[in-house]
Amino acid sequence: MKTVFINCSPKKRFSASSYFVFLQKLFTGGEQVSEFLRTPADHERILAQLRDAQSVVFCLPLYVDGVPSHVLPFLQKMEVFCRENNLNLHVYCIANNGFIEGRQNEPLMQVFENFCVRAHLVWGGGVGIGGGVMLNVSRILFVVQVGILLLNIALSLMNGGGVFPREAWWSFAENALLLLFFNSGVLFYLAGMGIAIRKGTYFGKKYTRIMIPSFIFILFADIFFVIISVFEGGIFRGWLAKKAYEEGV
Ligand SMILES: Cc1cc2nc3c(=O)[nH]c(=O)nc-3n(C[C@H](O)[C@H](O)[C@H](O)COP(=O)(O)O)c2cc1C
Repeated sequence: MKTVFINCSPKKRFSASSYFVFLQKLFTGGEQVSEFLRTPADHERILAQLRDAQSVVFCLPLYVDGVPSHVLPFLQKMEVFCRENNLNLHVYCIANNGFIEGRQNEPLMQVFENFCVRAHLVWGGGVGIGGGVMLNVSRILFVVQVGILLLNIALSLMNGGGVFPREAWWSFAENALLLLFFNSGVLFYLAGMGIAIRKGTYFGKKYTRIMIPSFIFILFADIFFVIISVFEGGIFRGWLAKKAYEEGV
């Protein structure tokens, strides 16, 4: 059983989609091939992989309540390719969005459902994930927690203590459990979809989100975007900067 995972995020590194592909692969057995779809140069390579695959999993961000524009030409090509080659692929989808409600991915799911009808493929369903950016950050926080734990163990050994400084292990366990809880909805549904992909059955459309109350999400999202704005685009993402047309370019 060969499953092709297509990461459709245009980001080269550290996309939320790459995190969800990683998780989905943990729950899906058989032969697995990972692809990325960023430019037209990727099209032929991916289509060649689909020839002998049983399933394909699209993992992508929600852009303006829909499918990112660079994915659409690929879907058009894939439709023709699958019909011409009589492929009977099962298509699954993992969509994530920045806002907290995973249900905002519903229009994107419908696009994939309709695509399957047009391309004569089998729609297997998908998972729509809200708070994708924050869930993606949670994996860095986990690595940071591991780092702090290792540092505490090193300090404990240097001071003649054991490998199990109790306080450090408790603190690590508490924080790791909290991060696990934030991700619990995603893990639950991706595990379920993993079973469906393995069996080649219909999973349905499921929506989940980062497991924190919305008012806390908004607070952290505001802080996050102010920091990102300052570091990546100047104050307010360059809103106050001179634009090219103002400079007469
Ligand atoms: C051009 C653009 C449009 C977006 N539109 C939406 C949107 O309509 N709703 C939403 O919740 N998030 C939106 N987002 C946020 C992304 O869905 C979010 O950052 C996602 O986690 C990115 O996934 P990736 O890291 O896998 O690329 C948009 C982001 C960009 C860059």
